[in-house]
Amino acid sequence: MTDQIDNMLIDNVLHETRVIEPPAEFAAKASIKRGEYERRYRQSLDDPETFWTEVAGQLSWTQPWTQVLDWQEPHARWFVDGQTNIAYNALDRQVELGRGDKRAFIWEGEDGEVRTFTYAELLREVSKAANTLTDLGVQVGDRVTLYLPLIPEAAIAMLACARIGAVHSVVFGGFSVSALADRITDAQSKVLITADAGYRKGAPVPLKANADAAAELAPSLETMLVVRRAGVAVPMKEGRDVWWSEAVGQASDQHQAAPLDSEHPLFVLYTSGSTGKPKGVLHTTGGYMVSAFLTMQTAFDLKEDDVFWCTADVGWVTGHSYTVYGPLLCGATAVMYEGAPNHPDWGRFWSVIEKHKINILYTAPTAIRSFMRQGDDYPGRYDLSSLRLLGSVGEPINPEAWMWYHRVIGGERCPVIDTWWQTETGTIMLTTLPGAFPAKPGSAGLPMFGIEPAILTRDGHELGPDEGGLLVIKRPWPSMLRTVYGDDERYRKTYWGEIPHVYFAGDGARKDADGYITVMGRVDDVLNVSGHRLGTMEIESVLVAHPSISEAAVVGRPDEVKGECVVAFVTPQSGMECDPAAIRAFITKEIGALARPDAIIVADALPKTRSGKIMRRFLRQIAAGKEIQGDTSTLEDPSVLERLQAAEVL
Ligand code: WT7
Repeated sequence: MTDQIDNMLIDNVLHETRVIEPPAEFAAKASIKRGEYERRYRQSLDDPETFWTEVAGQLSWTQPWTQVLDWQEPHARWFVDGQTNIAYNALDRQVELGRGDKRAFIWEGEDGEVRTFTYAELLREVSKAANTLTDLGVQVGDRVTLYLPLIPEAAIAMLACARIGAVHSVVFGGFSVSALADRITDAQSKVLITADAGYRKGAPVPLKANADAAAELAPSLETMLVVRRAGVAVPMKEGRDVWWSEAVGQASDQHQAAPLDSEHPLFVLYTSGSTGKPKGVLHTTGGYMVSAFLTMQTAFDLKEDDVFWCTADVGWVTGHSYTVYGPLLCGATAVMYEGAPNHPDWGRFWSVIEKHKINILYTAPTAIRSFMRQGDDYPGRYDLSSLRLLGSVGEPINPEAWMWYHRVIGGERCPVIDTWWQTETGTIMLTTLPGAFPAKPGSAGLPMFGIEPAILTRDGHELGPDEGGLLVIKRPWPSMLRTVYGDDERYRKTYWGEIPHVYFAGDGARKDADGYITVMGRVDDVLNVSGHRLGTMEIESVLVAHPSISEAAVVGRPDEVKGECVVAFVTPQSGMECDPAAIRAFITKEIGALARPDAIIVADALPKTRSGKIMRRFLRQIAAGKEIQGDTSTLEDPSVLERLQAAEVL
């Protein structure tokens, strides 16, 4: 933790006072009303056995659990001794319930191609993929890395892994060769599932070429299963590479889901932390399944015929929980759209909504702000009357964007839910149930069932209404991460070691007199750029590996569209020049385009204390073009600050 906390506590954001009641028609039909929420929430804390038994009992288990929770801080086991399979619950169970002919997925490619899968069809495809993985030698507990575009095969591959008890590790298709190689190596995956290429704004993204290069750096890799998506020519390595269409095409569509222990690992998903390399957040089967099911059903007030669109790529946790698992566990119809929001123009999202008659849209503030900048014309050209609920996720939503979303996209007819959660929490932790309570723009609101949040000082004291502090969760919940893959010590320290006996989220927040929690942003050295997490240290370590750079410090700067953007301060190696284009290209190559700095400031020195610590607080002020505030007397050479302020921004 850094001086950022102090800034936040002092710098408490402007208080938003608007309160938006749920539209009467929506509230009347809502499945959970205020009293019901209050009763069930109380029960979830006072009598968690009964509460979770009732929820988990709505899903299929091949062996019942003997205990709801076994908590040996910081390790939780949920639904102890229970056996189940999440893919079975997402597919076979829906077919058994009579949803075999119901659409499970509607997929739209960037080029306009549409593919749909009923639950029965999806079950057959997943069965074929599961048989293929088994034929390729994948066994229970093996890790399988996925590096795919947002195509149906991504979901099919995830579910196929889950079906046989293999642990999927999805790497976002925008990540670079080295980022992919590091993740394959950390997980020790033997199998990688990729595609020839994906599409982004009409241009092919060379996934297979990246995968080939990553394979050279990742010795654990033995097999590559390649989906043909773009039809571009790619070399296939004899003995290593297999076409998905050939292998899966020939496999049997009959497959029995493996009964797995409730605590069997389901997936690893890498995310940035404040120090070192990205962490492999590990989620397990039973608890994750139960939370994904419950939050999907309640936060989104899901109805049987809803068509639900979560715009997130499966490379992020949002895509895991609400593009794939949540909707299928609830038997909903989920939409997946492959491409960019502005291809061929900024009306694309609205055209997808009109075409597929989407009822619930779940997207990120950064997207909402981009749309808002394009004006009301684009959405105005489409029929958005199918929408009945809107959701936001990934970063704080500024009240202005919230109001635009509500007015222009929702026609003031749809409630907007702001959902706070993290890769580590697995599923939604805070949101205001749309039919039960009024919304306060900018505030995520109230806790989900079983979640006991608090706002604490650094030394663990609970703060009063409207006091800014650290957001923690006071007890374990079913979809909580179980560990950091291969580094339990890091898990212990990062999440349960900052403040004794509570889960430390890494966010600053405050709670108002009605119990609504407003999350203000990270208090550690993690940036949130367009809703994606980036560790400043991770970017710095890449920068200093560049031959022209001697020292580097990375900070965030508020950005109107991205929420936050990357600003890099660098000092050159003696006798060298720092070329901004080369530095940006290097970052893209080493991490991915999303980490590329918006601004690079080259200087002869960085502001350091006498003990050599870089004072990032001052760098943040300089990056934002603010006056320097705070005590500069601890700096070894305060004149550095003036030189940095005067330096050209590249
Ligand atoms: C971080 C987690 C949740 C899935 C997507 C991001 C920020 C997320 C909100 C929100 C304010 C939010 C937090 C959090 N965040 N949602 N509704 N309001 N901040 O998952 O990449 O693990 O990032 O995103 O700072 O810690 P993630």
